[in-house]
Amino acid sequence: MAEKVVVITGASEGIGAALAKTLAAEGHRLVLAARRKEKLEAVAATCGQKAIAVVADVTRRADVEAIRDEALRRFGRIDVWVNNAGRGISRKVLELSDAEVDEMMAVNLKSALYGMQVAVPYFQQRGEGQLINVSSFLGRIPMATIRSAYSAAKAALNSITTTLRLELMATHPNIHVTLVMPGMVRTAFAQNALGGTPELAPGRSPPPGVPAAQSAEEVAAAIAAAIANPVPEVYTNPQQARLVADYFQDVAGFERRMASR
Ligand SMILES: NC(=O)c1ccc[n+]([C@@H]2O[C@H](COP(=O)([O-])OP(=O)(O)OC[C@H]3O[C@@H](n4cnc5c(N)ncnc54)[C@H](OP(=O)(O)O)[C@@H]3O)[C@@H](O)[C@H]2O)c1
Repeated sequence: MAEKVVVITGASEGIGAALAKTLAAEGHRLVLAARRKEKLEAVAATCGQKAIAVVADVTRRADVEAIRDEALRRFGRIDVWVNNAGRGISRKVLELSDAEVDEMMAVNLKSALYGMQVAVPYFQQRGEGQLINVSSFLGRIPMATIRSAYSAAKAALNSITTTLRLELMATHPNIHVTLVMPGMVRTAFAQNALGGTPELAPGRSPPPGVPAAQSAEEVAAAIAAAIANPVPEVYTNPQQARLVADYFQDVAGFERRMASR
């Protein structure tokens, strides 16, 4: 594949860091963004000469604009922008505070909106580019009660990603908009969630039919494949597509099975 310049937010650990390593191995040039400078620079160092680190808090619009400016200054162009930064929560709906809802929306929805509003006008000028939003399977099926406002923010992200894609389709056929929905992934996501994440109670098992957790590298490979061959939506584990078909065929039955486990 031709070398691309790829911006990845949330690249200091987890899926973003794995994606950086995968794309570096494929020969792409990378602009890696996150808040923790040392961790981010360590990831950039493992990617060789072609990666730069830009310290940024993507809940601030000015920081997201600065990522674009630094990418253009260092590499002269951006081909792909990946909005990957995000954070979970462990609060049931009736426990949510205003501040927690605001935090979920800021880090999971508004951060990606800033990325879209910064990257896409640039792609429109060029007439090409790819915007990738890393959402969650919970944005499609909100089946984890403790993830409440996180699932809501990701559902909003799914929605806004689709509407952007439809908006661009007629006027800019060479701008691709891709929604990525991982299921459970073995990263520090659970520990980093607002409120941490409780251990599964004794006797409780993961919901029936829910695929086992993937590695960050497996998810990175699925995103890299969507960069090589752009598609509108990616379930990083094909079993998720079957679960979605089940869900929409019989929502009530699906919910009963979830609640009774
Ligand atoms: N792991 C899962 O089970 C799972 C499942 C479905 C979807 N996802 C989604 O996949 C994406 C990556 O998750 P992950 O599993 O890799 O989580 P992670 O291991 O907790 O990593 C999160 C990354 O996002 C960055 N980040 C968080 N807030 C940020 C902010 N305000 N500004 C800039 N960077 C920020 C963190 O870096 P700093 O702290 O250094 O800023 C870190 O690099 C998220 O959007 C998540 O919702 C994860």
